[in-house]
Amino acid sequence: MKVSKLLVALLAGALSLGAAAQQPIVIKFSHVVASDTPKGKAVEFFAEKAAELTKGRVKVEVYANSTLYEDKEEMEALQLGAVQMLAPSLAKFGPLGVREFEVFDLPYIFNGYDDLHKVTAGPVGKQLMAKLEPKGISGLAFWDNGFKSFSANTPIRNPDDLRGKKLRIQSSKVLEEQVRALKALPQVMAFSEVYQALQTGVVDGTENPISNLYTQKMHEVQKHLAITDHGYLGYVVIVNKKFWDGLPTDIRKQLEEAMVQATRYANQIAKIENDNALEQVRKSGKTAVYVPTVAERTAFKKALVPVHQKMEKRVGKETIDAVYQAINFDPNKL
Ligand code: LMR
Repeated sequence: MKVSKLLVALLAGALSLGAAAQQPIVIKFSHVVASDTPKGKAVEFFAEKAAELTKGRVKVEVYANSTLYEDKEEMEALQLGAVQMLAPSLAKFGPLGVREFEVFDLPYIFNGYDDLHKVTAGPVGKQLMAKLEPKGISGLAFWDNGFKSFSANTPIRNPDDLRGKKLRIQSSKVLEEQVRALKALPQVMAFSEVYQALQTGVVDGTENPISNLYTQKMHEVQKHLAITDHGYLGYVVIVNKKFWDGLPTDIRKQLEEAMVQATRYANQIAKIENDNALEQVRKSGKTAVYVPTVAERTAFKKALVPVHQKMEKRVGKETIDAVYQAINFDPNKL
């Protein structure tokens, strides 16, 4: 009797151990944009690849569109380990104390994706990632989105057209200064609140890549959109460092491979997604799309490039110079 009881207990123990061994490692991946955006699609791609390459030992649970956390909360949640992965925009690292990431927010610094990749794939990108480690965060990859355009309820052709307007921005001091350079009023606000703020007139306008504008239906509550392409918005995929370092080595390697493939995918689709979104915005007829002339674009540059020098202290002159050097940028030649 005693022996059989022991056998049953042993068997039950072995069964539950087996069940525990089969439990996948769960990665909660939270983000604030719609699923059909460059970031939303890349997160889904990563989740699928992670399941495939780890043969189901890792399950990535995706929480899109701020369903779990808003901008500020998600950073805190990552550091506390309530979620394991995020892909915040580069403009959202200042509040964490990593101000150098705001170099990406400098207006008109990148003349397209090629310039940008020279920075993200080069030594500057590496140095920036290293700055996250003391915060308990590991940076895994840079993912593209695109170039931002201004929208408002009145036409935007020249910098003066935005004077006095309340413009929603992300939590970046560089973006604050950029809006002030236009003599407009910066309003920092979580992404999830922008649509309503535009609809109710809490703010007059905003800036975003068209994929974000379109998937949040912002074009339905903005009468004018000017394709200014005045600044870049992209992401860093980050993971809670303790969680990442604690993963079995083989699993971490497979996840790194899934990330390499997801990054390639993200950067392949970003421009296409933004171009498609612009086409959809045009088709909708809900907002007038204006492409500034060369002279108007130069006027925007003249108004905004002085922000670079003003932000030297905030971002760090060394970081700005390193980016200038990587892309051959001369602020005196516009
Ligand atoms: C924003 O807040 O406008 C963007 O950072 C949202 C995003 O993640 O693309």
